[in-house]
Amino acid sequence: MTNPPLSRRQLLGSAALVGAAAFLPADLAAQDSVPSTAPAGDGFVLVTSANGLEAAKVARQALIQGKDPLDAAIAGVNVVELDPDDVTVGYGGIPNEEGVVELDAAVMDGRTMRAGAVAALTGVKTPSKVARLVMDQTDRVFLVGAGARRFATAHGFPDENLLTEKTRKIWLHWKNRLSDLDDWIEAARDADDPDVKRFLEKYGREYFRPQGTIHMSVRSAKGDLVGVTTTSGLFFKIPGRVGDSPVIGAGLYSENGVGSAGSTGRGEANLLTCGSHTVVEYLRDGLTPEEACLRALKRIAEKTHLVPRHRDEKGRPKFNVNFYCVDAAGRAAGAALWSGSKYVVGDAGGVRTLESAWLYRRDA
Ligand code: GLY
Repeated sequence: MTNPPLSRRQLLGSAALVGAAAFLPADLAAQDSVPSTAPAGDGFVLVTSANGLEAAKVARQALIQGKDPLDAAIAGVNVVELDPDDVTVGYGGIPNEEGVVELDAAVMDGRTMRAGAVAALTGVKTPSKVARLVMDQTDRVFLVGAGARRFATAHGFPDENLLTEKTRKIWLHWKNRLSDLDDWIEAARDADDPDVKRFLEKYGREYFRPQGTIHMSVRSAKGDLVGVTTTSGLFFKIPGRVGDSPVIGAGLYSENGVGSAGSTGRGEANLLTCGSHTVVEYLRDGLTPEEACLRALKRIAEKTHLVPRHRDEKGRPKFNVNFYCVDAAGRAAGAALWSGSKYVVGDAGGVRTLESAWLYRRDA
C-alpha cells in the first residue's frame, strides 16, 4: 500500500509519535527545517557526506569521463579511505578498544540489485574495494572478520598496519585514562600531544563516542543508481562490533527507478530501523528525497533508544544520524536528526557543500 506524498509540514506534524511520546518533544510538529534539497538535473548527480568533498571531486571527474557510476563512487571514497587524516574511515581510522583498526564497507548496484559487504576487516586500507569484489566475485553478499581477511588476501590485498602514529597515540591516551582501577596510568604529557589535543578538541565533547563514515550515492546520466558506504566505525569499539555501514538496507540501499540512500552517525539507531531502505521506500511512496530522509529520521527518533540514557531532558535523542539520498529524477538531499550537519552534492555544474535539513535545532 502506498501513501500519498506529504508536505514537510504534514511530515513533521503527522501523528506518528505514538509509543514514543514520553521521549519526543511535544512541539515537534512546530519545528521546521532549512530547505536543503539540491535541484534535479538531467545529467549525473552524486551526494555524499560532509567529509566527502575531495571524494566528490574525484567521483565527479570519473563521471564526466563516462566511467561506470559504481567505479566512480568507489574511486571517490577511496580518497578518504587512504587519507590518514580522516580518523573515521579506512587507513588511520580510530581503532577498536584493543588498538586494532577494524573496517566495514558495502556497495550496492541498483541496476542489478546486487550488493557486497565486509565487516571487521583488518589490514586493508580500502575495504570498499573488497566489498565490490564480494559482489562481483562471489555468490554471497557479506563476509566478516577472519573470512573477509582471507578473501582479501586471496585477491591480493597485503595485510597492512592501518594504525598511524597519530591514532596509536590517541588510542593510548584513551586507554590510559579509561579507569583508575586498571594497570594503565595516564601520563600528564599524553594530553599535551598536539595530535591528541586536536582529536579531543574535535571529538572530545560528544556525548556518545563518535562514529564517522563516508557514504556516496550516485545517479548516473543514464539514471542508474548505486551507493557505497565505508567506515572504521565507532571509536574504541568492542572488537567485532559492526554498525550500520556495511549492512544492506541500513547503511545504504540503491534501487534503479526509485533512489539510493546511505547514512552516517550512530549506527545502532539506524540498524534498528533499516534506515536507508526506509528512505528508499518513502521515495517509492512519492516523497521527495528531503522528506524521505526526514521521515526516516523521525522514525529513528520515535522508535529507537527509548531509554533515558539516550535522551536529553526534553526527550530528544542525544545522538545524531544523517541520511543522504538521490532519487531517480536526480534530486539530492541530506538530512540529520540535529541541525548543523552538512552534505556534499556534485553534478555537471561542480561540487558544493550544503546545509542538511534537520528535525531538532541544536541550540533550542
Ligand atoms: N555509522 C557508522 C557506525 O556506526 O559504525
